Amino acid sequence: MLKNDLKSFEEKAGEEIKEARDLSSLDKIFQEYVGKKGEINKIFKGFGGLKESEKKEIGKRANLIKARIEEMVVQKRKDIKKSVEKIESEKEKIDVTRPGKKIKTGHLHPLTIIQREVGEIFQSLGFSIISGSEVESEWYNFDALNVPRDHPSRDMQDTFWIKREKSNDPKKNLLLRSQTSAVQVRYMEKNNPPLRIIVPGRCFRHEATDASHEIQFYQCEGLMVDRDISVANFKAIIQEFLKIFFKKEVKVRVRPSYFPFTEPSFELDINCQNCGGKGCNLCGNSGWIEVMGAGMVHPNVFKKAGYNSKDWQGFAFGVGLDRLAMLKYKINDIRLFYSNDLRFLEQF
Ligand code: DAH
Repeated sequence: MLKNDLKSFEEKAGEEIKEARDLSSLDKIFQEYVGKKGEINKIFKGFGGLKESEKKEIGKRANLIKARIEEMVVQKRKDIKKSVEKIESEKEKIDVTRPGKKIKTGHLHPLTIIQREVGEIFQSLGFSIISGSEVESEWYNFDALNVPRDHPSRDMQDTFWIKREKSNDPKKNLLLRSQTSAVQVRYMEKNNPPLRIIVPGRCFRHEATDASHEIQFYQCEGLMVDRDISVANFKAIIQEFLKIFFKKEVKVRVRPSYFPFTEPSFELDINCQNCGGKGCNLCGNSGWIEVMGAGMVHPNVFKKAGYNSKDWQGFAFGVGLDRLAMLKYKINDIRLFYSNDLRFLEQF
């Protein structure tokens, strides 16, 4: 009876060892058969009622089977270790034929794209790109541009002043420029006419933000001065610019307006690019969208720059680059440009 038990232990243990998939289940099997409390030891413990000769024979067999099971376990342990190593090494292997992972690189911000595009177009029309400083004096931002001393745009609500205590000399008062127009007189002081320049750059206003207002925004100033410059020159240049920018014929209309630094002053509208002029939400059903302020340079501005306004005329304009980007890409909230949301930025 014990002999048969031994035989079946060996077979059962052999089966289980074969099936074992990892070291811990192999350990369990080892304990179950040849461990201290295992099946083989139980046989030794049940020797009590046996004859000496039987004890000897069964003991010998039991030891043999124990050794065989141990041997099987040792072998299986080696096999499992080997196969684990193989799987691990396969994981580390580099398959050079697999397609590579795309490395994410940075790209240009939509406003930078628009600024460069606008710059290229105006360069092709003979304009030079000039840059000014974001920190400007009150003089160039307002006084030199014929903005009255009590003009509301100079107030704390509209302008970020660098220092609270104001001097009586506007050249000493610093601010974050509220318009790129500040570069007009700066440039004209150092350069003789005729000239054609654009000045793209960031401006700041202390305003409540909403879908169309931000405390920072980008403008592009334009200035052309020559002997016989009229509104017709302005319209022709701007129409050409808009045609290249929007890649289609754009209708423009000029409306009278007021800016202290131009006379006459006007606002330039284009036919709504969203509805084509029929009327929609974007254009408030008027069919027209305002894109820039402009005008003929005021004689007082020429005077501040040291030009004789009898000899020279010029036009100037200021266009919002955020606005152009919003129209071109159909973006309905200016704040998206400054929110650093990758879901937005990755689309450009
Ligand atoms: N600086 C004006 C603004 O920020 C825009 C502007 C209007 C610029 C008329 C000009 C101009 O050069 O002639 O609203």
